[in-house]
Amino acid sequence: MAKEEKDNIVVGLDIGTTKTCCIIGEMNSDNTINVIGIGQTPSKGVRKGIISDIEVTIEGIKKAVYDASRMAGVEVAAVYAGITGEHVKGINLESMVAIAGKNKQVEQSDIDRVREAIRLNAATHNDREVLHIIPQEYIVDDQNEIKNPLGMYGSRLRSRVHFITASVPRVQDIVRSIEKAGFFFQGLVLQPLASAEACLTYDEKELGVVLVDIGGGTTDMIVYIDGGVRHTAIFPLGGIQVTNDLAIGLRAPIEQVEEIKKNDGCAFAPMVNELEEVKVNLIGKKTERVVPKRVVAEIIQPRMEEIFGFVQKELKASGMEGRVAAGCVVTGGGALISGIEEVADKVLRLHARVGYPSGISGLLEVVNSPVYSTAIGLMVYGARNRVSVKSSRQSSGGNGLEGIIKKFKGWMDIGF
Ligand SMILES: Nc1ncnc2c1ncn2[C@@H]1O[C@H](COP(=O)(O)OP(=O)(O)OP(=O)(O)O)[C@@H](O)[C@H]1O
Ligand SMILES: [Mg+2]
Repeated sequence: MAKEEKDNIVVGLDIGTTKTCCIIGEMNSDNTINVIGIGQTPSKGVRKGIISDIEVTIEGIKKAVYDASRMAGVEVAAVYAGITGEHVKGINLESMVAIAGKNKQVEQSDIDRVREAIRLNAATHNDREVLHIIPQEYIVDDQNEIKNPLGMYGSRLRSRVHFITASVPRVQDIVRSIEKAGFFFQGLVLQPLASAEACLTYDEKELGVVLVDIGGGTTDMIVYIDGGVRHTAIFPLGGIQVTNDLAIGLRAPIEQVEEIKKNDGCAFAPMVNELEEVKVNLIGKKTERVVPKRVVAEIIQPRMEEIFGFVQKELKASGMEGRVAAGCVVTGGGALISGIEEVADKVLRLHARVGYPSGISGLLEVVNSPVYSTAIGLMVYGARNRVSVKSSRQSSGGNGLEGIIKKFKGWMDIGF
């Protein structure tokens, strides 16, 4: 029997490299969201953000959703899921049309034509799955940064968008896992877009900001300028590499150094008191050694500098360096290490802050952590771009995967 879900329920499902996390929200009549359930379980079938074992992932999804729905006391029928990995590509596209109106004034038909030109441009990437077409700005002749060009005078109308695509098989893996776990999927959202939804303020997006989500297996970045997405990039490294560096550097068991990293680690060595020490085992031996915390930090710092070095290179290559006046917001589990703001500041030469999910109510004491930015953001994104459970069921039911992907293509450019 099909599951029934209340109309005001919205569910975010983050299938991350280290954990699969489900967050259930209840939308209030004033459009605010109350978090009423959370479930999470370690991800065993995900590597560098990509599903590597479908069966294990299905079990993880079932458990996370079951736990969240039990806590919330509601049934879950459909979810908004995230996607990341090196296969995801974001580019800026531009199209141009002549303004056809009598007085050279932009009419709705001109806007429709310029949008259609973007769609045609996007359609040339038909070997890829389209995730998002995000409007940036309209330009009338040389006047840029226009949000609504209707009624403006000129001879040429241009539209700029950020266009995000993914590998078709990687999308299918996610869709299949969710469906096989017994849920409809209402939408697939680029993970850093979801994290940005949860962590960034309106002002930061307007002034210009780079969000860096340091997860276990990937670091995702997204740049906003003048309120629009200008650049996205995914790097295949994160907190797991930091832990591996410590295991190799200290010749100690992975489980132990993971705890040392979380409890005593620091990403900026000069902050650490030279006299403080931590106890560490040698791999395969029971005897403990004492290691200065400064040494631990000296192993962590270069990896964190490498991560922010990639961010710096992307900012430079995309021409965004110097345009992110509001600085850098770091989120994801990797943002929890002490000294993260200092190391980001040192490499990027930007003011940095740690991004916590905001703008929600409910189980705040549980979800108030950068670890949950993506899952919360998926839920918020879902609430803002709502597709009814019924319509996602109708369009996916009976048509198999092809039908799901087709429906999926339809809703992605909502807002464009
Ligand atoms: N207090 C902490 N200090 C340092 N690192 C931490 C802390 N808490 C969590 N981490 C690290 O954060 C990482 C997990 O982050 P997160 O939960 O955001 O990843 P994920 O979403 O599962 O992975 P991905 O986004 O890469 O697919 C792990 O490598 C973990 O060691
Ligand atoms: Mg993540």
